[in-house]
Amino acid sequence: MQDYLEYDVVIVGSGAAGLGVALRLAPLAKVAVVSKTELAECSTFYAQGGISAVLDARDSIESHIQDTLNAGAGLGDPNIVRLVVSQGRDCIRWLLDQGVAFTQLETAKGDLKLHLTREGGHSHRRIVHAADATGKAVESSLIARARAHPNIDLYEFHNAIDLITATKLKRSPQRALGAYVLDRKAGKVKVFSARAVVLATGGAAKVYLYTSNPDTATGDGIAMAWRAGCRIANMEFMQFHPTCLYHPKARSFLISEALRGEGAKLLLPNGEEFMHRFDPRRELAPRDIVARAIDYEMKRLGIDCVYLDISHKSADFIRSHFPTIYAKCLEFGFDLTREPIPVVPAAHYTCGGILTDAWGRTDIPGLYAVGETACTGLHGANRMASNSLLECLVFAKQVAEDLSQRLAEFPLSPPLPPWDESQVTDSDEEVVVSHNWDEIRRFMWDYVGIVRTDKRLRRALRRIELLKQEIAEYYGNFRVTNDLLELRNLIIVAELIVKSAIQRKESRGLHYTLDYPHTNPPPAQNTILDPRSPS
Ligand code: FAD
Ligand code: SIN
Repeated sequence: MQDYLEYDVVIVGSGAAGLGVALRLAPLAKVAVVSKTELAECSTFYAQGGISAVLDARDSIESHIQDTLNAGAGLGDPNIVRLVVSQGRDCIRWLLDQGVAFTQLETAKGDLKLHLTREGGHSHRRIVHAADATGKAVESSLIARARAHPNIDLYEFHNAIDLITATKLKRSPQRALGAYVLDRKAGKVKVFSARAVVLATGGAAKVYLYTSNPDTATGDGIAMAWRAGCRIANMEFMQFHPTCLYHPKARSFLISEALRGEGAKLLLPNGEEFMHRFDPRRELAPRDIVARAIDYEMKRLGIDCVYLDISHKSADFIRSHFPTIYAKCLEFGFDLTREPIPVVPAAHYTCGGILTDAWGRTDIPGLYAVGETACTGLHGANRMASNSLLECLVFAKQVAEDLSQRLAEFPLSPPLPPWDESQVTDSDEEVVVSHNWDEIRRFMWDYVGIVRTDKRLRRALRRIELLKQEIAEYYGNFRVTNDLLELRNLIIVAELIVKSAIQRKESRGLHYTLDYPHTNPPPAQNTILDPRSPS
């Protein structure tokens, strides 16, 4: 049947994490990748700075581990950090094998070697990149490989609605059996039955009004896993990237940290530098510190933005290292080679997510989570720049290895029930969906942003309770659409962020609250929310 599909593994998401798992598994298993828009529309495609890996003789694995743990503000898991960091070189080699064209440098002897740039928190040059469009180079190569593989079927414009689990069907033992997926073009819901399911749905930064992320980043995997019964960890640690272009039409276009890595300075409107007042590492302090410093100065002076200046570098250097950013800024009337450009922080990365072990396993047998949707323990309370793509690639390998050993444990399910649409009609009130979308994103920005207080968090929670009811009622009555599905997920993500933030009675990494400005003494605690015992 066309609407009932069977695979060894269904992977939800086509970024570095999803395609990474697909390509590693495809020699052994029949794989479906479902993606809610075009394959390339994902955070991976927009990644700029690069991928961290220890490749320089003066650098060391120990140094990368220490930098990652320092950035994570005492909450990173040292075993996971070691696992990920020690595989950096292999991951870059794997990407080169997939055809990714990283920026190279000619050595004095005339050989070519990968150029390494630098970003905040890293004490060495260790960022492998493809100029300032690393994600585009990675994603395009992975898509080309996946399209060519006979064992990978790609389903674009297919939005996964919910997981199908044994418990939901009142069967035991509990395990993942597949997913209901909306075929957006055909307007119908299909059943994907699988031996195992991998969530690789990316982050949730669209829950904030201003974000560097593409529209796909609505935390769908986190919400689906939560509804299915998985624990979700550390959601209070939402990362705000310090420097997005400030222009009404720029949609928070990211200005890579690599500019600061190559010497760009942050300035107040009067041209004064300010980062030295906040951290001795100045512009190259970890992101939480830089974003908070900018937020502080903007509030102190009542200004709309600060400025980033790299114009002291030669125009040739700027144009060759940052061609995409240079061109984008020119579109908005700013010439990077001549003048400081206006920048503001915006929501960028979800450090928390679906709790997994070192193999990407979640609480449900046969259900895996990988990439930004997962919380593996690598980032702790704050992700260091360019460690995310590395995590996607390492955990894609871990998941594929585990699945290759364990697929036989998960036979295909007897027929799964079709999607039930008998109780719903087409909506005559789409305005409810668009209004609630805007409302969530605005109060999350105003009340759950870079600097928090208990009062603001409680204010946000009251609004969430109300919206949750309204959205549940709407979902129960009307046929599903992409916007409705995302809204239903966004409200869960908002609730998880706010509840996690309320639980943390200290400031640590990305979570800063005026009510508890100090960091608690060790040992640091993860915030783990369990749907089986909701608070
Ligand atoms: P994504 O690449 O976001 O892919 C998620 C996929 O899931 C998408 O295909 C999406 O359509 C799909 N999806 C989501 N929900 C559903 C659903 N319900 N049904 C079907 N499909 C679904 N990190 C670095 O390490 N280095 C960098 O230089 C860097 N620069 C960045 C620059 C920008 C502008 C941004 C936004 C992020 C950057 N990051 C960087 C972070 C990094 O890009 C992401 O964390 C990483 O790419 C996430 O990969 P992923 O595969 O987990 O998710
Ligand atoms: C950037 O290029 O500044 C983004 C890097 C990252 O998010 O890791």
